[in-house]
Amino acid sequence: MTSAAERAYRTFTDRYASPPDTVWSAPGRVNLIGEHTDYNEGFVLPFALPARTAVAASAVLTTSTEDSPFWTVWSEYADEEVTFTADQLSPGAVTGWATYVAGVVWALREAGVAVPSARLALATDVPLGAGLSSSAALECAVLAALVELANADLPRTDWPRIAQRAENAYVGVPCGIMDQTASTLCQAGHALFLDCRSGEMTQVPFDLASQGLAILVVDTRAPHRLVSGEYAARRATCEQAARTLGIPALRDVTDLDDALARLPDEVSRRRVRHVVTENERVRQTVALLNAKDARGIGPLMTASHASMRDDYEITVPEVDTAVESALQAGAYGARMTGGGFGGCVLALVDADATDRVAHAVTAAFEKAGFRAPASFVAVPAAGVARATDV
Ligand code: GLA
Repeated sequence: MTSAAERAYRTFTDRYASPPDTVWSAPGRVNLIGEHTDYNEGFVLPFALPARTAVAASAVLTTSTEDSPFWTVWSEYADEEVTFTADQLSPGAVTGWATYVAGVVWALREAGVAVPSARLALATDVPLGAGLSSSAALECAVLAALVELANADLPRTDWPRIAQRAENAYVGVPCGIMDQTASTLCQAGHALFLDCRSGEMTQVPFDLASQGLAILVVDTRAPHRLVSGEYAARRATCEQAARTLGIPALRDVTDLDDALARLPDEVSRRRVRHVVTENERVRQTVALLNAKDARGIGPLMTASHASMRDDYEITVPEVDTAVESALQAGAYGARMTGGGFGGCVLALVDADATDRVAHAVTAAFEKAGFRAPASFVAVPAAGVARATDV
């Protein structure tokens, strides 16, 4: 199979009858640990997947400066072309998959970048709706290509906030900063330890093969249920709890027992317990990885899952079954990754046990009457990049 970058290049050339000025691609991500901590100004530890979304793009010179700039976008996946103009850029005006592209154009313009009219062609290898950040991959690839076409002097470390703004204010999803940061700034062979308050980043070497280990990703293919409403509700509960505790964000809880005693209801106590213990698990995971004890992170992953299941209440039966069956088949640890209510599970396994664990999960799904899952081994890949070899 050809890469997304090659397909984007080829489709662009066929559709627009000339080769693109540039091709960029950005990856999907998995989060090793640190779930629902980003919008609580805490810690996350994602890594980029080899699967990428690519965009081939060329600026279009418009003859009159009075013409409204326009953007024409072809999506291989949707098998559809959409054109929107600068006059149609207010949030809500563009709908469907093109919202993500329009959102990036809008957010760049809001950030003062003069985005030229352009033609774009999109292709992706990131599974959509599987909790692997296909939307962030799309936003980050498009943003990178448009920054180049605009010749804008915009440091790469500023890109994630602009892409997040597109998603928050234009697409209307109240996500945190993790996915866009991972898709932009991850490095191959590393997980990205991100302090979501300060923006401080550390690339943590994550070479499991040298320790005889692998991360198996199981896409449960469970239909996402109630995702955006439940996500927003979790976020609102956390923000309310921080207000009750008189702190800027749950990141600032220093004494968990004291905080729990001061919260008025069981639901917020559970949510706060998840966030506070999860931040601590991220720190411990980083310490173990730095000590080259990757196997040691297994119990932290499993504890993270239990916390998401019991305290944050964001798992579903398919996800819990995947975790339990992977552990029974010998995984050192397993957890759901991403926003929840479906999506993927990560299992830390011996490098020679990936097939065995994948089969065990598939068998457990069959027994439970769930749709067959899809599994693959994830090796940490690079963030957004200009494709030079298409
Ligand atoms: C989604 C959001 C992220 C983050 C995760 C949960 O992926 O986009 O910002 O909140 O859920 O950790």
